[in-house]
Amino acid sequence: MRFVVTAGPTREHLDPVRFLSNPSTGKMGFAVAAAAARCGSVVTLVAGPVALKTPRGVRRIDVVSAREMLAATVQVVRESLDAGEETAVIATAAVADWRPARCASRKLKKSQMTGNLRLVRNTDILKTLSRIRSHRTSLHLVGFAAETDHVLAEAARKCQEKGLDFIVANDVTERGCGFGSDTNRVAFVHPDGTVQRLPLLTKRQVASRILAHLKAKGKI
Ligand code: PMT
Repeated sequence: MRFVVTAGPTREHLDPVRFLSNPSTGKMGFAVAAAAARCGSVVTLVAGPVALKTPRGVRRIDVVSAREMLAATVQVVRESLDAGEETAVIATAAVADWRPARCASRKLKKSQMTGNLRLVRNTDILKTLSRIRSHRTSLHLVGFAAETDHVLAEAARKCQEKGLDFIVANDVTERGCGFGSDTNRVAFVHPDGTVQRLPLLTKRQVASRILAHLKAKGKI
Protein backbone atom coordinates (compact mmCIF):
# COMPACT_ATOMS: atom_id res chain seq x y z
CA MET A 1 0.00 0.00 0.00
CA ARG A 2 1.36 3.39 -0.97
CA PHE A 3 0.14 6.74 0.35
CA VAL A 4 0.74 10.00 -1.46
CA VAL A 5 -0.04 12.98 0.77
CA THR A 6 -0.03 16.62 -0.33
CA ALA A 7 0.51 19.24 2.37
CA GLY A 8 1.03 22.93 2.99
CA PRO A 9 0.39 25.96 0.80
CA THR A 10 1.63 26.71 -2.68
CA ARG A 11 3.28 29.97 -3.65
CA GLU A 12 2.47 31.64 -6.93
CA HIS A 13 5.24 34.11 -7.66
CA LEU A 14 4.87 37.33 -9.62
CA ASP A 15 8.57 38.05 -9.27
CA PRO A 16 11.40 36.52 -7.16
CA VAL A 17 10.31 38.39 -4.00
CA ARG A 18 6.49 38.52 -4.24
CA PHE A 19 3.91 35.76 -4.31
CA LEU A 20 0.24 34.83 -3.70
CA SER A 21 -0.27 32.19 -1.02
CA ASN A 22 -2.39 31.17 2.02
CA PRO A 23 -1.84 30.40 5.75
CA SER A 24 -1.49 26.58 5.52
CA THR A 25 1.33 25.34 7.78
CA GLY A 26 1.34 21.70 6.62
CA LYS A 27 0.42 20.40 10.12
CA MET A 28 -2.64 18.45 8.89
CA GLY A 29 -0.81 16.81 5.99
CA PHE A 30 2.31 15.98 8.00
CA ALA A 31 0.09 14.32 10.63
CA VAL A 32 -1.54 12.18 7.90
CA ALA A 33 1.85 11.20 6.46
CA ALA A 34 3.17 10.30 9.93
CA ALA A 35 0.07 8.20 10.72
CA ALA A 36 0.34 6.27 7.44
CA ALA A 37 4.06 5.61 8.03
CA ARG A 38 3.34 4.39 11.57
CA CYS A 39 0.97 1.82 9.99
CA GLY A 40 3.89 0.49 7.92
CA SER A 41 2.79 1.95 4.55
CA VAL A 42 5.14 3.45 1.98
CA VAL A 43 4.48 7.20 2.16
CA THR A 44 5.44 10.02 -0.18
CA LEU A 45 4.74 13.52 1.09
CA VAL A 46 4.56 16.29 -1.52
CA ALA A 47 5.03 19.44 0.55
CA GLY A 48 4.70 23.11 -0.28
CA PRO A 49 6.88 25.63 1.59
CA VAL A 50 6.47 24.78 5.32
CA ALA A 51 8.71 24.81 8.41
CA LEU A 52 8.09 21.26 9.65
CA LYS A 53 10.38 18.27 10.16
CA THR A 54 9.82 15.31 7.85
CA PRO A 55 8.04 12.51 9.78
CA ARG A 56 10.08 9.35 10.36
CA GLY A 57 9.93 6.85 7.49
CA VAL A 58 8.39 9.32 5.03
CA ARG A 59 9.86 10.26 1.63
CA ARG A 60 9.40 14.00 1.10
CA ILE A 61 9.36 15.99 -2.13
CA ASP A 62 9.47 19.76 -1.67
CA VAL A 63 7.66 21.96 -4.16
CA VAL A 64 6.79 25.65 -4.33
CA SER A 65 4.04 26.27 -6.88
CA ALA A 66 0.76 24.51 -7.76
CA ARG A 67 2.28 23.49 -11.09
CA GLU A 68 5.22 21.83 -9.29
CA MET A 69 2.82 20.11 -6.87
CA LEU A 70 0.74 18.81 -9.80
CA ALA A 71 3.80 17.47 -11.66
CA ALA A 72 5.33 15.78 -8.58
CA THR A 73 2.05 14.24 -7.40
CA VAL A 74 1.04 12.88 -10.82
CA GLN A 75 4.53 11.43 -11.35
CA VAL A 76 4.59 9.64 -7.97
CA VAL A 77 1.05 8.30 -8.45
CA ARG A 78 1.82 7.02 -11.98
CA GLU A 79 5.02 5.32 -10.75
CA SER A 80 3.11 3.70 -7.91
CA LEU A 81 0.31 2.43 -10.17
CA ASP A 82 2.79 1.21 -12.81
CA ALA A 83 4.52 -0.79 -10.03
CA GLY A 84 1.14 -2.42 -9.34
CA GLU A 85 0.78 -0.81 -5.91
CA GLU A 86 -2.59 -0.05 -4.32
CA THR A 87 -2.39 3.76 -4.00
CA ALA A 88 -4.26 6.25 -1.84
CA VAL A 89 -3.89 10.01 -2.29
CA ILE A 90 -4.81 12.24 0.64
CA ALA A 91 -4.82 15.83 -0.55
CA THR A 92 -4.59 18.13 2.46
CA ALA A 93 -2.70 20.86 0.59
CA ALA A 94 -4.17 24.33 0.17
CA VAL A 95 -3.35 24.65 -3.51
CA ALA A 96 -3.68 28.09 -5.10
CA ASP A 97 -6.47 28.06 -7.68
CA TRP A 98 -4.89 30.97 -9.57
CA ARG A 99 -1.39 32.17 -10.46
CA PRO A 100 -0.12 35.41 -11.99
CA ALA A 101 -0.17 35.18 -15.79
CA ARG A 102 3.48 36.30 -15.84
CA CYS A 103 6.33 35.81 -13.39
CA ALA A 104 9.16 38.33 -13.85
CA SER A 105 12.69 36.91 -13.54
CA ARG A 106 13.91 40.07 -11.72
CA LYS A 107 12.26 42.06 -8.92
CA LEU A 108 9.61 44.33 -10.40
CA LYS A 109 10.05 48.04 -9.75
CA LYS A 110 7.05 49.87 -8.33
CA SER A 111 7.05 51.97 -11.49
CA GLN A 112 6.59 48.77 -13.56
CA MET A 113 3.50 47.70 -11.55
CA THR A 114 0.10 48.95 -12.66
CA GLY A 115 -2.08 47.85 -9.74
CA ASN A 116 -3.77 45.25 -11.97
CA LEU A 117 -2.69 41.63 -11.71
CA ARG A 118 -3.77 39.24 -14.48
CA LEU A 119 -4.35 35.72 -13.16
CA VAL A 120 -4.70 32.34 -14.88
CA ARG A 121 -6.27 29.17 -13.47
CA ASN A 122 -4.09 26.39 -12.08
CA THR A 123 -4.91 22.83 -13.10
CA ASP A 124 -6.81 20.90 -10.44
CA ILE A 125 -4.57 18.11 -9.10
CA LEU A 126 -7.40 15.89 -7.82
CA LYS A 127 -9.43 16.21 -11.03
CA THR A 128 -6.32 15.21 -12.99
CA LEU A 129 -5.85 12.15 -10.76
CA SER A 130 -9.54 11.33 -11.04
CA ARG A 131 -9.13 11.04 -14.83
CA ILE A 132 -6.15 8.68 -14.30
CA ARG A 133 -8.31 6.62 -11.93
CA SER A 134 -11.11 6.11 -14.42
CA HIS A 135 -9.02 3.31 -15.94
CA ARG A 136 -7.00 2.36 -12.81
CA THR A 137 -9.18 0.94 -10.03
CA SER A 138 -6.33 0.67 -7.52
CA LEU A 139 -6.29 4.47 -6.96
CA HIS A 140 -8.24 5.95 -4.01
CA LEU A 141 -8.72 9.70 -3.68
CA VAL A 142 -9.47 11.66 -0.50
CA GLY A 143 -9.71 15.45 -0.61
CA PHE A 144 -10.03 18.19 1.98
CA ALA A 145 -12.39 21.15 1.83
CA ALA A 146 -11.52 24.34 3.70
CA GLU A 147 -14.79 26.27 3.90
CA THR A 148 -16.22 29.36 5.57
CA ASP A 149 -19.90 29.08 4.45
CA HIS A 150 -22.29 26.17 3.76
CA VAL A 151 -19.44 23.86 4.76
CA LEU A 152 -21.09 20.48 4.15
CA ALA A 153 -22.88 21.50 0.94
CA GLU A 154 -19.68 22.97 -0.53
CA ALA A 155 -17.71 19.90 0.49
CA ALA A 156 -20.29 17.60 -1.13
CA ARG A 157 -20.11 19.60 -4.36
CA LYS A 158 -16.29 19.34 -4.43
CA CYS A 159 -16.44 15.63 -3.64
CA GLN A 160 -18.68 15.07 -6.70
CA GLU A 161 -16.82 17.43 -9.02
CA LYS A 162 -13.42 15.95 -8.20
CA GLY A 163 -14.57 12.32 -8.27
CA LEU A 164 -13.40 11.51 -4.72
CA ASP A 165 -13.98 8.51 -2.44
CA PHE A 166 -14.77 11.05 0.27
CA ILE A 167 -13.80 14.58 1.31
CA VAL A 168 -12.75 15.86 4.74
CA ALA A 169 -14.62 19.11 5.42
CA ASN A 170 -13.37 21.70 7.91
CA ASP A 171 -14.81 25.08 8.82
CA VAL A 172 -11.74 27.32 8.86
CA THR A 173 -13.60 30.10 10.70
CA GLU A 174 -14.08 27.89 13.79
CA ARG A 175 -11.71 28.35 16.74
CA GLY A 176 -9.10 25.57 16.95
CA CYS A 177 -9.84 24.41 13.40
CA GLY A 178 -8.25 24.65 9.97
CA PHE A 179 -5.10 26.64 9.26
CA GLY A 180 -2.23 26.51 11.73
CA SER A 181 -3.99 24.94 14.70
CA ASP A 182 -2.94 21.69 16.38
CA THR A 183 -6.58 20.56 16.48
CA ASN A 184 -9.35 20.24 13.92
CA ARG A 185 -13.05 19.45 13.78
CA VAL A 186 -13.87 17.68 10.55
CA ALA A 187 -16.69 15.79 8.84
CA PHE A 188 -16.32 13.03 6.27
CA VAL A 189 -18.61 13.83 3.33
CA HIS A 190 -19.31 11.08 0.78
CA PRO A 191 -20.35 11.18 -2.88
CA ASP A 192 -23.90 10.04 -1.97
CA GLY A 193 -24.21 13.02 0.41
CA THR A 194 -23.92 11.05 3.66
CA VAL A 195 -21.93 12.77 6.39
CA GLN A 196 -19.97 11.54 9.41
CA ARG A 197 -19.11 14.30 11.88
CA LEU A 198 -16.13 14.00 14.23
CA PRO A 199 -15.59 15.95 17.47
CA LEU A 200 -12.72 18.41 17.99
CA LEU A 201 -9.58 16.26 17.90
CA THR A 202 -5.85 16.76 17.58
CA LYS A 203 -4.63 16.69 13.97
CA ARG A 204 -2.80 13.47 14.85
CA GLN A 205 -6.14 11.92 15.91
CA VAL A 206 -7.90 13.26 12.79
CA ALA A 207 -5.17 11.64 10.66
CA SER A 208 -5.71 8.25 12.33
CA ARG A 209 -9.49 8.56 11.88
CA ILE A 210 -9.06 9.25 8.14
CA LEU A 211 -6.95 6.09 7.73
CA ALA A 212 -9.44 4.07 9.80
CA HIS A 213 -12.30 5.40 7.64
CA LEU A 214 -10.50 4.37 4.44
CA LYS A 215 -9.96 0.95 5.95
CA ALA A 216 -13.58 0.61 7.08
CA LYS A 217 -14.73 1.42 3.55
CA GLY A 218 -12.51 -1.36 2.25
CA LYS A 219 -10.27 1.05 0.35
CA ILE A 220 -7.02 -0.02 2.02
O1 PMT B 1 -1.83 23.00 6.83
P1 PMT B 1 -2.60 23.36 8.11
O2 PMT B 1 -2.16 24.68 8.69
O3 PMT B 1 -2.59 22.23 9.11
O4 PMT B 1 -4.13 23.60 7.69
C1 PMT B 1 -4.91 22.51 7.26
C2 PMT B 1 -5.84 22.89 6.09
C3 PMT B 1 -6.84 23.97 6.53
C4 PMT B 1 -5.00 23.46 4.90
C5 PMT B 1 -6.57 21.57 5.67
O5 PMT B 1 -7.30 21.09 6.75
C6 PMT B 1 -7.48 21.80 4.46
O6 PMT B 1 -8.65 22.13 4.59
N1 PMT B 1 -6.93 21.61 3.22
C7 PMT B 1 -7.64 21.89 1.96
C8 PMT B 1 -7.52 23.36 1.68
C9 PMT B 1 -8.14 23.80 0.41
O7 PMT B 1 -7.51 24.61 -0.23
O8 PMT B 1 -9.27 23.26 0.03
P2 PMT B 1 -10.03 23.61 -1.35
O9 PMT B 1 -11.45 23.59 -1.01
O10 PMT B 1 -9.52 24.84 -2.02
O11 PMT B 1 -9.64 22.39 -2.29
C10 PMT B 1 -10.37 21.17 -2.28
C11 PMT B 1 -9.44 20.02 -2.55
O12 PMT B 1 -8.90 20.12 -3.88
C12 PMT B 1 -8.23 19.93 -1.61
O13 PMT B 1 -8.02 18.56 -1.31
C13 PMT B 1 -7.07 20.49 -2.45
O14 PMT B 1 -5.82 19.90 -2.10
C14 PMT B 1 -7.49 20.07 -3.86
N2 PMT B 1 -7.02 20.96 -4.94
C15 PMT B 1 -7.28 22.30 -4.91
C16 PMT B 1 -6.84 23.10 -5.95
C17 PMT B 1 -6.11 22.50 -7.01
N3 PMT B 1 -5.60 23.24 -8.01
N4 PMT B 1 -5.88 21.18 -7.02
C18 PMT B 1 -6.35 20.39 -6.02
O15 PMT B 1 -6.14 19.16 -6.03
